[in-house]
Amino acid sequence: MSSPLPRSVDTADVDGRTILLRADLNVPLEGGRVADDTRIRASLPTLRLLLDRGAREVRVCSHLGRPKSEEDRARYAMEPVRARLRELVPDERVTVLENTRFNPGETKNDTDFARRLADGCDLYVDDAFGSAHRAHSSTVGVAELLPAYAGLLLLDELRNLGRLLGDIERPFVLVSGGAKVEDKLGVLQHLGSRADSVLIGGKMAEDVRGENPFDFDPVLPTDVVAASAFAEDAESRVTPFDALPDGWLGLDIGPESRVVFARAITQAQTVFWNGPMGVFEWPRFAEGTVAVARALAECAGFTVVGGGDSVRAVHEAGVAEQVSWISTGGGASLELLEGKELPGVAAIPVAA
Ligand code: 3PG
Ligand code: MG
Repeated sequence: MSSPLPRSVDTADVDGRTILLRADLNVPLEGGRVADDTRIRASLPTLRLLLDRGAREVRVCSHLGRPKSEEDRARYAMEPVRARLRELVPDERVTVLENTRFNPGETKNDTDFARRLADGCDLYVDDAFGSAHRAHSSTVGVAELLPAYAGLLLLDELRNLGRLLGDIERPFVLVSGGAKVEDKLGVLQHLGSRADSVLIGGKMAEDVRGENPFDFDPVLPTDVVAASAFAEDAESRVTPFDALPDGWLGLDIGPESRVVFARAITQAQTVFWNGPMGVFEWPRFAEGTVAVARALAECAGFTVVGGGDSVRAVHEAGVAEQVSWISTGGGASLELLEGKELPGVAAIPVAA
């Protein structure tokens, strides 16, 4: 573990107290309903602990989306999240505050807004790992106004992801993919230089093939599923990576690469995976990503998945139960693994 853990909610005296609980309830919505409640359910252990230990009131707060305009206020209102949380925890002591980002002070870590949030509360519990890389009023400002504690999810994330930064069991295999190579350069460099092998697929592989930005040599796909256009029903065929017909695109890693990647993953003692191998939203280009998900499930070592797309792929492949840790953080997990200090964590006193 790289840095000491923040003090746990488990050590707080919450009996009869009013608690401000910051969770990351930033979930996808569809048609005015919560489309995926993973983050809500991940927040329940801390909420239940507070209620079981006699909290008088728990005010849950979170941001939702990135509201900018007035119209966004309807689109990102907390009501669907509130409704889902109420179904899961029907307890009158729980209230869900409105989207913290409806207040323009939130993202500026404005003290007045932090005071409004803290008003009437005795304690602050931060369980929002997914937002811990943001220095906002609800993640940092309030921690300066109230006695602050870390929630159980936040601590679990720090422990599990922290294992990748400490003494790892080898071989350690890092698997990355997706489109946005710039977003991942930092984590790939930091973690990749400690890994025994770094497997890269997706569009990122082509970027890296052009000019390797790392001080290690990643394993790149030798074959791809090529498509005549960027379309779900495009004509497609398997080709060596360097034999793509003119104007064609590689939309998945090919069968030969899948075998190589899967072998490295299943034989590893530690694996971190972030980013799909191709356009896995389209079934015809999903096999490479599914092969990686299955290999992770088969691996007997410590396996961690972070980032929205790979987390979704693990669920779609039906192997979530066989993965050691699925992070609820996207940007937060990458920043942590890059070796950066997370402001939301730094704002909480360390454990005694
Ligand atoms: C996330 O979904 O990554 C977190 O909730 C943070 O959201 P943000 O990137 O809008 O700050
Ligand atoms: Mg496993």
